[in-house]
Amino acid sequence: MQKVHAAITAVNGYAPEYILTNHELETMVDTNDEWITSRTGIKERRIQKGEGLGTSDMAVHAVNGLLTKRGITAEEIDLIIFCTITPDMPFPATANVLADKIGAKNAWGFDLEAACSGFIFGLTTGAQFIETGKHKKVLVVGGDKMSSIINYEDRTTCIIFGDGCGAVLLEPNTEGLGVIDSILRSDGSGRDLLNQKAGGSLKPASHETVDAKEHYAYQEGQQVFKFAVTNMADVAAEIMERNNLTAEEVDWLVPHQANKRIIDATANRCGVTSDKVMINIDRYGNTTNGTVPLCLWEWEKRLKKGDDLILAAFGGGFTWGSVYLKWAY
Ligand code: UT7
Repeated sequence: MQKVHAAITAVNGYAPEYILTNHELETMVDTNDEWITSRTGIKERRIQKGEGLGTSDMAVHAVNGLLTKRGITAEEIDLIIFCTITPDMPFPATANVLADKIGAKNAWGFDLEAACSGFIFGLTTGAQFIETGKHKKVLVVGGDKMSSIINYEDRTTCIIFGDGCGAVLLEPNTEGLGVIDSILRSDGSGRDLLNQKAGGSLKPASHETVDAKEHYAYQEGQQVFKFAVTNMADVAAEIMERNNLTAEEVDWLVPHQANKRIIDATANRCGVTSDKVMINIDRYGNTTNGTVPLCLWEWEKRLKKGDDLILAAFGGGFTWGSVYLKWAY
């Protein structure tokens, strides 16, 4: 019997309208366009404005568009995996909120938290349910409202992050297309270098934690950079090697968009030329769980059936990983 792979059969994305430019950030903190551009590659990022809107609301846009594209109803979805570090609330899961908002009455779902590697982890997890035959339609959503946990007085973090969300649909494929391989890793000893200190069971929210600004994202940038640049590049190269893929055979490298310098280092390590690297960090910044699906969405029209894609990410935890994917349409 032919092996069943989990293929991406539709992709869609959503980026909020409001554009926060480097020039606007210059009026908020002591920074400048030249520094941000040369150190990160970012020119602007999107911000979800408006009261009463959370990450699930961006997902509603992305997923409704995806369902229309694929020509199916929400009721046909079996499972929703929502990859995020900015859930609408600590519980219930944003996957459940999304299911309710789009009318996915027959789906079960859960949130997956692996910081910036979340979508890679979620794609691999979702693929298992398709490969075993348990489910026929799995939605993997990656999105974050990073502006909800960013301190816009901290120039070391506020210039980096943005809001956005992407989603893919996984369905069975017997033509050898879809998720072929993945390598996932984590190392919790890096937890102090990139985190949100308060609001969990270790340090519940209090007046003190709010005053100490401990509900915002905290990052020791230089240290994280060192781990990110090595691990993301290594894991991408490793997955190519174990699948006997040469740089020439790789059609697209889809890297997490944390820093243009990390993206370039990963591409160099893999030997993939810059024309085959998906980069939109200049327009969206780091949307955490949104980066990889937003790239797939923006490049969708240029992708061809059978294209070999290498996805790679690194994030807080630490977490990192890579997926080898054959595009299915
Ligand atoms: O997505 C999850 C994983 N995260 C990452 O992969 C992020 C990894 N880290 C990075 O991308 C980079 O470390 C940053 C973009 C966060 C920072 O870039 P950097 O080249 O590592 O800068 P740095 O922290 O070493 O700071 C260099 C200088 C410092 O000044 P001094 O001490 O040399 O005088 C900073 O105070 O730049 C200063 N600086 C800034 N200057 C203007 C820091 N932030 C800014 C700023 N504008 N926004």
